[in-house]
Amino acid sequence: MLRLQSVEAAYGSVRALFGLSLEIREREVVCMIGANGAGKTTTLRVVTGALRPTQGEIQFLGRPIASLRMSEIVRLGISCVPEGRKVFSTMTVQENLEIGGYIRRHDKRWLADTMEQIFTYFPILRDRRTQLAGTLSGGEQQMLALGRAMMSRPKLMLLDEPSMGLAPLMVERTFEAIQNIAKAGTTILLVEQNARMALTVADRGYVVQMGRIVMSDTAGGLLQNDQVRQTYLGIGARKEDP
Ligand SMILES: Nc1ncnc2c1ncn2[C@@H]1O[C@H](COP(=O)(O)OP(=O)(O)O)[C@@H](O)[C@H]1O
Ligand SMILES: [Mg+2]
Repeated sequence: MLRLQSVEAAYGSVRALFGLSLEIREREVVCMIGANGAGKTTTLRVVTGALRPTQGEIQFLGRPIASLRMSEIVRLGISCVPEGRKVFSTMTVQENLEIGGYIRRHDKRWLADTMEQIFTYFPILRDRRTQLAGTLSGGEQQMLALGRAMMSRPKLMLLDEPSMGLAPLMVERTFEAIQNIAKAGTTILLVEQNARMALTVADRGYVVQMGRIVMSDTAGGLLQNDQVRQTYLGIGARKEDP
């Protein structure tokens, strides 16, 4: 579904991606784990069109997308839940959702149906639909950010650190929601510093270091990998089975 091949990207003279390649098949949940500054957010930004790669190719459903505008990429079926959620705090929950459905703004019926679906995932958003987004708790804002990204009915959702800054119970709820979205057929690329949670919900994972993929395996394989355990899960090497 999505393929990045030898992608390089930079912020002015600061290089961030050094030939990064990865691929995601339809209906997979794939995670990227890596330290702060490894290039995870930058990877998502080149996919959404927020940042142009300087080298390499990006294909979505067989077509090159690296030179398309962000709105065109949303239309093809990619949407993103950004790092830090970035809900519009002085707008209501409903207005935030409407912005997520911007590409279909003239189709009121389509928007209403989609919003209704999102309310079945997140009943709290229905209860709070007229409330300003800035007055929601962190967990509720994360639900809103997920709901807003679902408003374009994406085929592929990119999630940037959805657990960041949330209380443990809210982290659990967020990951449950992500699993439900995946079960309903949406393909997911999940970026997380919470490697344990990410590897629990993902089918496969990539480890990113200094703008490159340094390891790739099934989620189970990565959870068993000594280097991953020490560096990203904060636990000692796996004991030999007796
Ligand atoms: N807006 C920016 N301007 C300059 N450098 C940036 C900017 N955003 C990120 N970087 C740099 O790009 C590299 C990758 O960052 P990022 O993709 O945000 O990492 P991650 O999401 O894995 O923490 C880092 O070295 C970071 O300092
Ligand atoms: Mg980041």
